[in-house]
Amino acid sequence: MFLTKEEEGMLDGRHGRATQKAMQILVALGKIYDASRLVRVSSVQVSGVSYKNLGDAGLEFLDELAEDGKARVRTTLNPAGMSLTDWRSQGIGSGFAEKQLEVIDAYRRLGLEISCTCTPYIAGNLPLFGQHIAWGESSAVAYANSVIGARTNREGGPSALAASLTGRTPLYGLHLTKNRVPTIAVDVEAALSSPEDFSAMGYFTGKLAQDGIPLFRGVRKANLEELKTLSAALASSGGVAMFHIAGLTPESELGEGAPEPVSFAQKDLEETRAFLNDEGIPDFVALGCPHCSLAELRTLANLLNGRRVRKEFWVCCSREVKRQSDEAGYSGIIEGSGAKFATDTCMVVAPVEDLGFKVVATNSAKACHYLRNAGLRTRFMPMEECVEEATRRR
Ligand code: F3S
Repeated sequence: MFLTKEEEGMLDGRHGRATQKAMQILVALGKIYDASRLVRVSSVQVSGVSYKNLGDAGLEFLDELAEDGKARVRTTLNPAGMSLTDWRSQGIGSGFAEKQLEVIDAYRRLGLEISCTCTPYIAGNLPLFGQHIAWGESSAVAYANSVIGARTNREGGPSALAASLTGRTPLYGLHLTKNRVPTIAVDVEAALSSPEDFSAMGYFTGKLAQDGIPLFRGVRKANLEELKTLSAALASSGGVAMFHIAGLTPESELGEGAPEPVSFAQKDLEETRAFLNDEGIPDFVALGCPHCSLAELRTLANLLNGRRVRKEFWVCCSREVKRQSDEAGYSGIIEGSGAKFATDTCMVVAPVEDLGFKVVATNSAKACHYLRNAGLRTRFMPMEECVEEATRRR
């Protein structure tokens, strides 16, 4: 793989030990994937922030890098395992909290922005069409590639950090136009009328596409909330890092001559909804997978206005979107109902399985997927029904 003089210097250790280690990771990756060279990235998003996933080995790795490493490009962070300020009211134990704060401190010393969100694109880190980036969070990767037209592979924690410390990533995979063409066409016959329908469609398609690139045909319109939940679901039941929607997403013309289609019919939508719905009365309601947008918080505030929630109710969003919601007056209504904001974290990366909940109501197929893996039962329902469930007297 070709390296510039500066990149060779990084590899030789002339820019410090952390940069050298980062360059070694990128060169090894480049060799595995047969990259011809490195490409500069305009931003990085690092996943692997929750102590639940990192453990002590991950924390040690970060501490070592933080001895002399510094981010060279703007780098934002995925959600942590708890709210960084309100973890006590979330029921998080002090042992976990201490370790989580050590992880955050290491990232801060590395010069990363402590944004703790999976929707950086609505919280100030919005790439442009065609820009090379190195993002880790799978839902954000699918959104950035597909909806924005930026270019990123699905980075693991170490490779994203390596990109941050060097400002580069190997040029392979979805950085190359030839790898962005659809591998499966999906004719959408079902009537899609809500974000939950897009989420279910993503879940259905992810299973079929695996790590391929679906092209959806027959979808006439989609808003940001629908596209972000579609991105998340595709990347949870499968490993989809990019999709196209004919006539809507910016590179959908790459789909001309797409392979034989499968269909997504009304029956598939209903079967997927049913599949994600377990038995049981929810004892926990969680919205914001991916993290809520301001528009979702407005809808939620309207639904909760003047009502009282009777169950643990988490609203997951970034601090930036929460700040906008505070200014707009939505937060006061939401918190006035007894619902709690879960900023910096989410219902999946927080250790909710240790908090005693059994059945979670949520509007996200991705959240259902991972919560089930953690041993909880899930009820998949629209936001309106989640609010009904939370406010019902039983
Ligand atoms: Fe985000 Fe957590 Fe869902 S990181 S996409 S809210 S699983």
